[in-house]
Amino acid sequence: MSVDIDWNNLGFDYMQLPYRYVAHWKEGAWDEGTLSTDPNLSLNEGSPILHYGQGAFEGLKAYRTKSGKIQLFRPDQNAHRLHNSAEKLLMPPFPEDRFVDAVKQVVAANHDYVPPYGTGATLYLRPMLIGVGPNIGVAPAKEYIFDVFAMPVGPYFKGGMVPTKFIVADQHDRAAHYGTGQAKVGGNYAASLQAGKFAHEHGYGDAIYLDPIEHKYIEEVGSANFFGISKDGKTLKTPKSPSILPSITKYSILTLAHDRFGMKTEETKIAITDLDQFGEAGACGTAAVITPIASITYNGHEHVFYSETEVGPYTKKIYDELTGIQFGDVPAPEGWIVDV
Ligand code: PLP
Ligand code: COI
Repeated sequence: MSVDIDWNNLGFDYMQLPYRYVAHWKEGAWDEGTLSTDPNLSLNEGSPILHYGQGAFEGLKAYRTKSGKIQLFRPDQNAHRLHNSAEKLLMPPFPEDRFVDAVKQVVAANHDYVPPYGTGATLYLRPMLIGVGPNIGVAPAKEYIFDVFAMPVGPYFKGGMVPTKFIVADQHDRAAHYGTGQAKVGGNYAASLQAGKFAHEHGYGDAIYLDPIEHKYIEEVGSANFFGISKDGKTLKTPKSPSILPSITKYSILTLAHDRFGMKTEETKIAITDLDQFGEAGACGTAAVITPIASITYNGHEHVFYSETEVGPYTKKIYDELTGIQFGDVPAPEGWIVDV
């Protein structure tokens, strides 16, 4: 069967696919889980996910290679991060091997929707773990649902690999140092909606947050991590902070920059007033892939990096290596690619 989709013009939008995976936790154990054709979940009105945000999610992609094979990029890392997010919110972790197996089942069941090689589009997978069942006091749920659904997507930021402008959200914090910033939980995204709306309405791709203590150091973009490359192309830096999401793409870029391009890599504090140290900058994440940062606006001043229209050479080199690995054109470090 083939499906009628304009693969080259996909955005980042929900699409209902035939199958998703659903498992339930009750009385101390996960059930077997199964593929389901029903896109709706039935939840008790007292479910802690609805009132108190007890839920976490993940985002990863399946890629079609030139030979037509389908592969996943580092799904074990997503399984592990969901485990950490679950512990942070006192939820029973979904077993990490079963996470990868569930993702594979969803991809295989919806294989007609994995975009063709060469379109740049991918199948985005959204695993989630939520606390459900009748409750009203602030306490962990007694029942949980693990669900993985999927949809074909194109670029998250308009145009994909094109320089995009960002603006610092200095009137908003995304997460606190001892809060939930390192976990992929809904509350962090609810907290980002106002600054995100302001950024979008003023023509920016998204907001960039500063540290919640001093409002001096870059944290991350609302939907991706930040990296900067020195003017000589020899050093790649990313922010170090206890309140940002540990991006799997970021750690992959740090590894590739160091191991394959001999760059010095550093996770360190990056002051918003010290952007001039960088020749190029980017936003990185599963949805964002690598989006070159054209400029960052802060305190009414627009700091332009490499160019407002052209992609810098070091960003391009890292992008080609990363996406080459993801789509199977470039050999991957051991364990990064999992066949479906
Ligand atoms: N930071 C935030 C707030 C995100 O939502 C994401 C997306 O998952 C990232 C960073 C990038 O993380 P990853 O590279 O694991 O997708
Ligand atoms: C992802 O990159 O997978 C994310 O979860 C980012 C999200 C804001 C779309």
